[in-house]
Amino acid sequence: MQTFQHPRQMREHLDALRHQGHTIALVPTMGALHEGHLQLVDEAARHGDTVLVSIFVNPTQFGPNEDFSRYPRDLESDRAKLQQRGAHLIFAPTPELMYPEGAATRVCVQHLTAHLCGPLRPGHFDGVATVVTQLFHIAGPCTAIFGQKDFQQLAVIRRLVRDLHMPVHIVAHPTVRDSDGLALSSRNAYLSTDERQRALCIPAALQQVHDAFHSGIRTPARLTQCATSHIAPRVDAVDYISLVCPDTLAPLRDDIPQHHSALLAVAVRIGTTRLIDNILLSTAPSPVFPRSAQGTKPPRPTSPC
Ligand code: PAJ
Repeated sequence: MQTFQHPRQMREHLDALRHQGHTIALVPTMGALHEGHLQLVDEAARHGDTVLVSIFVNPTQFGPNEDFSRYPRDLESDRAKLQQRGAHLIFAPTPELMYPEGAATRVCVQHLTAHLCGPLRPGHFDGVATVVTQLFHIAGPCTAIFGQKDFQQLAVIRRLVRDLHMPVHIVAHPTVRDSDGLALSSRNAYLSTDERQRALCIPAALQQVHDAFHSGIRTPARLTQCATSHIAPRVDAVDYISLVCPDTLAPLRDDIPQHHSALLAVAVRIGTTRLIDNILLSTAPSPVFPRSAQGTKPPRPTSPC
C-alpha cells in the first residue's frame, strides 16, 4: 500500500493504472479512521479495482471557531487500519500542496446549503465542495463513496457532480453505529464518559421517531417534537432538530403523504463537541436498532410521542 503526498505524483500514478485498464474507487476522509470509514473502504472494493483513500483535514471547511487545530490526526494508525482492510493507495497531502499560495477558487453549491448545517457553518459546504472537486480532478475515480451520516454533504456532492457533469458515480453507504446506537464519528473521541452516555439520547430519539412514523404519525410538528422532547433536556445546545424533504432539504410543514419519505436531521452540542445524526423515514422501515440488537443498551424510550 503506497502513500502519496504530492497531487501531481498521485495523478501520474493513477494515470498509469487507468492506462492499464484499472478503475479507481475513492473514499475521501479526514482521517482518525473508525469502522464507519472502513466500511466505506469495503464498499469501494466492490466498485473499483484500485481502492484509494484520501486523508486530508481540509482547512477550508472549518470555521474560525471550529475544531481544525484539535481535529484528531494519526496517519500511522490510519495507515495500519487501511493496510489491514486491503486499501491499495493513500493520498495524504498537506494544506500547502492542496491550497498553494494565492489559491482563490471556491466551489459553491446553492440552495441545498441554505438549510440544516449551511446557515450555522458559513462556508463549510463551499470548503467541502472545493476539496472534493480537487480530489476528483487529482484522482479521476469512477466511483466515490460517501456516508449517509453526513446526509447534507452527500446531497451537496451528488448535486455538484450532476451540475458540473463530473464522470463520477456517487455511492452512499448507510450510517455505521456503535453497538449502543451512537453513530461512529471521529469527533466522538472528544466526549467524556458522561457526555458519551448523554449522546445516546440521539439514537434513542431517532428510533422513537422511526417507530412513531411507522405507527402512522405523519405530522412534522409531532415528529419533531417527539425527538426534541427526548434530546433537548440531555444535551447542552440544540443547533437544529428538523424534519426535511430528503431531496431539497427544505423543512416539511404539511403532513407527509402516504408513500413519501422524510429526513429527520439532528445537530446538537454536548460539552464542546458538535454531533450530527439523521434517520430517513420511508415506506421501508429502517430502524436505528435492528431487531437483534433491541433490548441492548441504551434502553429504548418507552414514552409514546
Ligand atoms: P470524514 O468526517 O472523515 O468522513 C469521511 C466519510 O466517512 C464521509 O463520507 C462520511 O459521511 C463518512 N462517515 C463518517 N462517519 C460515518 C459513519 N458512522 N457511518 C458511515 N459513514 C461515515 O466527511 C468528511 O470527512 C469530509 O467532509 C470530506 C468529505 C472528506 C471532505 O473533506
